[in-house]
Amino acid sequence: MTVPEIRRVGVVGLGAMGAGIAQLAIEAGFEIVGREVSAELGAKAHDRIAHFLQRKVDKEQMGAPERERALGALSLTTDLADLADCDLVIEAIVEDLGPKLELFRALEEIVRPDAILATNTSALSVTEIAAAVSTPERVVGMHFFNPAPLMPLVEIVRAQLSSDEAVEAAVTVGEKLGKRPIRCHDTPGFVVNRVLIPLLNDCLRVLDEARVSPEDLDTAMTAGAGWPMGPCTLVDLVGIDVHVHASEALYEKLREPRIAPPARIVAMKNAGLLGRKSGRGFYRYD
Ligand code: 3HC
Repeated sequence: MTVPEIRRVGVVGLGAMGAGIAQLAIEAGFEIVGREVSAELGAKAHDRIAHFLQRKVDKEQMGAPERERALGALSLTTDLADLADCDLVIEAIVEDLGPKLELFRALEEIVRPDAILATNTSALSVTEIAAAVSTPERVVGMHFFNPAPLMPLVEIVRAQLSSDEAVEAAVTVGEKLGKRPIRCHDTPGFVVNRVLIPLLNDCLRVLDEARVSPEDLDTAMTAGAGWPMGPCTLVDLVGIDVHVHASEALYEKLREPRIAPPARIVAMKNAGLLGRKSGRGFYRYD
């Protein structure tokens, strides 16, 4: 397949990950069409991006005119049809296969036949998502890490039928976004989550096994293993619901007991303790 030069990028779903990806892309000079299901959610994402860019201006990491230019490159919509001219669309919606399949089917009807379709899924199969469309060669995974503007890695995931051209175009976009892309195949959890999810669940089991407090467990892993943030702080940042969901999705595929979410964290999810986004998880956030 011939891939167009990528200038205009659609981002579908502007939650923490989608907004972070959109921020990176406008900073890197791409034109962005961000799609949310309501104007309110779109405005919330715009405010979040504007806030983080303002912090960069305050810290003299970016000029005020540059911030204005970047924000001017971000257009918001609730209508998927506005993504028609995009050269690449990155999907960052809810981590459920059904809605993703529905979205990819709809996108195929809207975008040009040579546009690339990428998913930011963290634990679902890119091949299964690609099976929703009649042109699976243009579907790849672009898996960013939370917080997307700060974490240097992006995993470029080759699904069963991805073309070389689509994979390499995604790598080039990753580089233009200032990331360090790696290429990998579509196996459960790809590279990082295959290692990190069981590891985090081991950490959470140690809370009960060693009767250690979340604060002391975090200190153990930052001061004793050199992690940039402790496991409880990290799971609060990622979102307890997101972590439970990713653990369950991976466990379903690999059936290794270490990967299953510990009961303690499932109970937290059920109680609405979702971490930073709900104001309370292992810690409180005011
Ligand atoms: N979006 C945009 N900008 C952000 C941001 C966000 N979410 N969060 C912070 N920033 C900006 C802020 O403006 C901040 O400056 P300010 O506080 O003066 O306003 C600036 O970035 C620097 O932030 P920090 O001082 O918090 O940065 P640190 O140097 O402390 O590093 C960190 C933060 C990069 C998050 C570091 O602690 C780290 O590497 N933690 C580990 C994170 C990790 O492991 N992530 C992977 C999670 S797994 C995952 O995502 C997989 C998925 O599939 C579930």
